[in-house]
Amino acid sequence: MVEDEYTLVLVKPDGVKTRHIGDIITRIERKGYRIEALKMINATEDELERHYYDKTDKPFWPEILTYMMEGPIVGMVVSGTNVVEAIHNMAGATNPGQAEWGTIRGDFGREWPDGVLRNVIHTSDTVDGAAREIKIWFPEFKF
Ligand code: PPS
Repeated sequence: MVEDEYTLVLVKPDGVKTRHIGDIITRIERKGYRIEALKMINATEDELERHYYDKTDKPFWPEILTYMMEGPIVGMVVSGTNVVEAIHNMAGATNPGQAEWGTIRGDFGREWPDGVLRNVIHTSDTVDGAAREIKIWFPEFKF
């Protein structure tokens, strides 16, 4: 039997602000994946440093911090067969301007006048990465 996987989805502040929480949940559920946990979060610097631990020395790190704290985010744990890769692909390319139509970033992302890269959603990119990230945002979650 194929084992279910777990992944972390964060609807970022721009996704919440532009009212796409429902669209994103609908796409996930329509593909047959299960929402196992869901909550609205005001991310702290500490949580973001742990989540993006390998990005804190990047030139765009201050931009990520400001962006991710400019409004609430929605965190979800999603399960299903091959869910990590499937949802990562569903998100589309990092830059919404380059993301394909039909992907979440391609359909709901936009360029912002201040030039900050805002891309609607975060999705885990590996099974191990997902487990690490889920522990940060859902420490109570039982796998
Ligand atoms: S990198 O450059 O190889 O570390 O890129 P990647 O592993 O894809 O992760 C980059 C995450 O940082 C977010 N981000 C940006 N990336 C590139 N350039 C800019 N200016 C930038 N600003 C923010 C990007 O969205 C990735 O985070 P997630 O949450 O996974 O989308």
